[in-house]
Amino acid sequence: MRSALTIILILACSSIYAQDATAEYVGVKKCKMCHNKAENGAQYSKWEESAHSKTFDLLLTDKAKAIAKAKGLKTTPDQAGECLQCHVTGWGEVSGYQLTVDQTDRKAVSQNEALQAVGCESCHGAGSLYKSKSVMLAIYEGQTEAASVGLVKPNEAVCLGCHNEKSPTAKPFVFAEHAAKIAHPYPAE
Ligand code: HEC
Ligand code: HEC
Ligand code: HEC
Ligand code: HEC
Repeated sequence: MRSALTIILILACSSIYAQDATAEYVGVKKCKMCHNKAENGAQYSKWEESAHSKTFDLLLTDKAKAIAKAKGLKTTPDQAGECLQCHVTGWGEVSGYQLTVDQTDRKAVSQNEALQAVGCESCHGAGSLYKSKSVMLAIYEGQTEAASVGLVKPNEAVCLGCHNEKSPTAKPFVFAEHAAKIAHPYPAE
């Protein structure tokens, strides 16, 4: 009786924890492990070839420095939240891209590098709760609700979070055209 009650309590608590757990960013290298097979659409390679994999490098250019100067920023663009917010993954979040990491902590350095672009998780949501194979398959097969583990099916609103007039170089955004340029679907059956 007592043990049955304990089990019920543990189950109740763990489900509360599951709901409260905050998804953390894991970085593009984790997604690459499972999403780079040609027969499944090689999502990682398609992303790597896209503009989104180079968004941090843009902040190191003379053009970026000139924009930052004209805006009166006190730092270079690669150090400025005003620019990083749309040019890296998870800016401003505890598990997102950080300006400084302990250089002796190789894991942390590698993790931060994997967030130094507009990565998978900028559009699909922080991955810690959905990145396991069992969860991914359950979502794919319709047994688990994607949103319940933080996986986003990106729509136009997600893009407009960055493709908007706050971008100093803002260009018109046409969802269908832009989405076609970054498409990484599964191959047709
Ligand atoms: C351990 C392997 C593994 C890892 C790591 C992984 N995935 Fe997956 N993912 C899968 C599998 C398996 C599927 C099911 C479809 C398939 O076979 O490709 C899937 C499906 C998906 C889908 C489609 C879900 C749907 O609605 O059907 C998205 C989007 C996705 N993954 C994004 C990501 C992102 C982003 C990351 C990194 C944060 C990631 N995955 C990490 C294995 C993985
Ligand atoms: C976290 C911010 C962010 C999000 C979210 C985002 N983008 Fe981008 N996107 C950028 C940045 C920064 C660039 C600039 C890269 C460059 O010019 O090299 C860019 C460039 C692009 C480009 C190439 C530039 C061009 O005009 O051809 C395309 C296409 C694009 N994004 C499509 C999309 C689509 C579609 C979505 C939503 C599904 C999206 N983006 C979501 C930040 C973002
Ligand atoms: C609201 C999101 C957002 C912010 C904030 C932002 N960018 Fe961008 N940036 C984008 C997007 C989206 C693109 C690609 C399409 C475009 O130009 O709007 C881009 C493209 C660029 C490009 C390449 C475009 C070109 O014409 O060469 C440079 C350089 C750049 N950004 C620098 C900066 C600098 C410097 C800052 C900070 C002062 C900054 N960005 C802040 C979203 C943003
Ligand atoms: C700029 C935003 C953006 C980025 C970055 C991005 N995706 Fe996607 N992803 C999308 C959109 C939009 C779709 C289509 C959603 C739909 O059809 O419901 C999609 C679909 C997918 C699918 C399902 C394909 C299908 O045919 O159903 C997988 C798997 C996936 N992405 C994995 C990844 C991985 C892995 C990365 C990083 C290597 C990544 N994505 C980066 C926006 C993005």
